[in-house]
Amino acid sequence: MNRSLSAAKAAKKDEFYTQYVDIQKEVEAYLEFDPHTYRGKVVYCNCDDPFESNFFKYFAANFNKLGLKKLITTSYDGSPIAGQGTLFPEYYEGNGKRQKPKALAVILDQVKDEDGDGAANVTDVELFLKRNKAARIALKGNERYPGGDFRSPECVAFLKQADIIVTNPPFSHFREYVAQLVENGKKFLIIGPKNAITYKEIFPLIKDTKLWLGTGFSNGNAFFSIPADSGRKFADGVYDDSTGLVKFRNVGWFTNLDHGRRHQELPLMTAADNLRFSRHKEIKGRKGYERYDNFDAIEVPFTDAIPSDYDEAMGVPITFLDKYNPEQFEILGITTSTFGGSCKKYPKQIQVGTGGKRSEVTKLNDAPAMKVDAPPTGKTYYIVDGKFFVLSYHRVLIRHRRPAKGEKK
Ligand SMILES: C[S@@+](CC[C@H](N)C(=O)[O-])C[C@H]1O[C@@H](n2cnc3c(N)ncnc32)[C@H](O)[C@@H]1O
Repeated sequence: MNRSLSAAKAAKKDEFYTQYVDIQKEVEAYLEFDPHTYRGKVVYCNCDDPFESNFFKYFAANFNKLGLKKLITTSYDGSPIAGQGTLFPEYYEGNGKRQKPKALAVILDQVKDEDGDGAANVTDVELFLKRNKAARIALKGNERYPGGDFRSPECVAFLKQADIIVTNPPFSHFREYVAQLVENGKKFLIIGPKNAITYKEIFPLIKDTKLWLGTGFSNGNAFFSIPADSGRKFADGVYDDSTGLVKFRNVGWFTNLDHGRRHQELPLMTAADNLRFSRHKEIKGRKGYERYDNFDAIEVPFTDAIPSDYDEAMGVPITFLDKYNPEQFEILGITTSTFGGSCKKYPKQIQVGTGGKRSEVTKLNDAPAMKVDAPPTGKTYYIVDGKFFVLSYHRVLIRHRRPAKGEKK
């Protein structure tokens, strides 16, 4: 019972809906880099109630402009509708007590000028859906997964015929969701929690440039609508009554579609100039950058303080990934202990034991154990100059990519 209660709680947390304008901004950012990103492609939105989702609405309305071959949208059995203006007229009708739709797939092969007004747009999609009820297919699921579950055989079959998956999936299944896309070799553009960057299933993909951050939400403010009856409680300033929108700060786009920003060089100063002129008091006026004791790298607490002329490993904040250009930098690892064997040589989180004022910490890379002042127990630290620093922020370990000898940059 506990398990189903927490599953229900997790499912409720998954219910927030992306705004049309955010989808438009992100999808179209890729066109600046390659105008044919979506041309001739099958786009699949697999966590999208077509009655509700702006992903469906956006791609249906821009079907011809983007040059899509097909748009497939599937909804999850049990997804509540927030009722913000659907493209399915029958759901407006009646006494407002609409039936919760069961899981279904909506497939569009083309968007024609149904109303003869000279343009093929979202009104035509509405008309088409009214005239062609057959464009909707009920999804049954199987004994393991309910209809519309992204793991159900019907949805996997749609996934296999799709070229690009675009959606905001349930965050509670993010790891499994991404694994499925990668296993199937699909292109994708999806919304996810920014802290997924540190997941042991996700970070290796970032490190190997199989997944990177998209262009949107870069200031960290993303707005979503939630079902009116969600009953969810939010911290002050998160939910705005007047708009019905929640503001999440830690949400971003994850993709493997190329975009222009990841080819832009991050402008940087030399180490000497940083130490003289940096706008950060943690850097300006110091003799040099701090070094980790348990890993051979310097600590760079701000992305704009990365020295242009340091050739070895550097620990930088995760927000660096918003500016990451794989031609400029290589990613070596991330500070965490939950990593797989291949990353053991990177700094580990250090759990300090109880008892005693001093604690023994084993240095990595076979260096001898060293004595350090013990901080309060139960937290995770990295060490700089024999002192513990609370690892409330992870560090991504990077190195400048330098041209091989004799090769021009
Ligand atoms: C964060 S919401 C986003 C909805 C929509 N994609 C959007 O951006 O407006 C995630 C959606 O995934 C649906 N969902 C939850 N579990 C799912 C599953 N296992 N398979 C497919 N969809 C699921 C939820 O019902 C919810 O509507």
